[in-house]
Amino acid sequence: MSANPQDKDTMVTLAMVLGALVLLAAVIFLVSRLFVVAEKNAIKGEIDTTERVAENLKPVAEVNAGKVATGPVVRSGKEIYEGLCVNCHGAGVLGAPKAGNKADWAPRLAKGFDTLLDHATNGFNAMPAKGGDPTLTKADLEKAITFMLEKSGLKKK
Ligand code: HEC
Repeated sequence: MSANPQDKDTMVTLAMVLGALVLLAAVIFLVSRLFVVAEKNAIKGEIDTTERVAENLKPVAEVNAGKVATGPVVRSGKEIYEGLCVNCHGAGVLGAPKAGNKADWAPRLAKGFDTLLDHATNGFNAMPAKGGDPTLTKADLEKAITFMLEKSGLKKK
């Protein structure tokens, strides 16, 4: 059975149409894929941007949080004394007046509380300024001195 030329032509045309259809389908498929990928990237880009904005804001938020958390810590005279002053004033290191020893502190207090505060703030002989902790405030020093005086049975006048 030999195909007549007309049939052959029809076959070729059919094959070409079919080929074109397959090609078209492939193109449509690829283009649609392209859109899906593009869309995904767009969404991803949005997420990235959101994350980046959050990231950019983070340090600021952390600094603020840090400030809130480490704001001026209010400590009692006892706490300040035990955290620092005790190192010298506990045992009388370098001739420091001993906390709890009235004889050590009475002549000091006789100079006036303001003088003691001034010496504690700015240093006095072997007494380092602020006991060596520059972060201590005037109120901190007042409290610590008052604590040492009271421990020695004396009262701030
Ligand atoms: C490194 C040791 C040391 C530390 C820490 C220290 N002191 Fe003193 N302090 C001394 C010495 C030594 C003297 C005595 C100085 C003198 O009379 O020559 C003294 C004296 C003083 C006096 C008496 C000053 C005067 O005019 O007689 C006060 C008040 C005082 N200290 C407060 C404090 C307070 C408050 C702290 C803690 C925040 C502190 N000191 C931490 C060593 C220290």
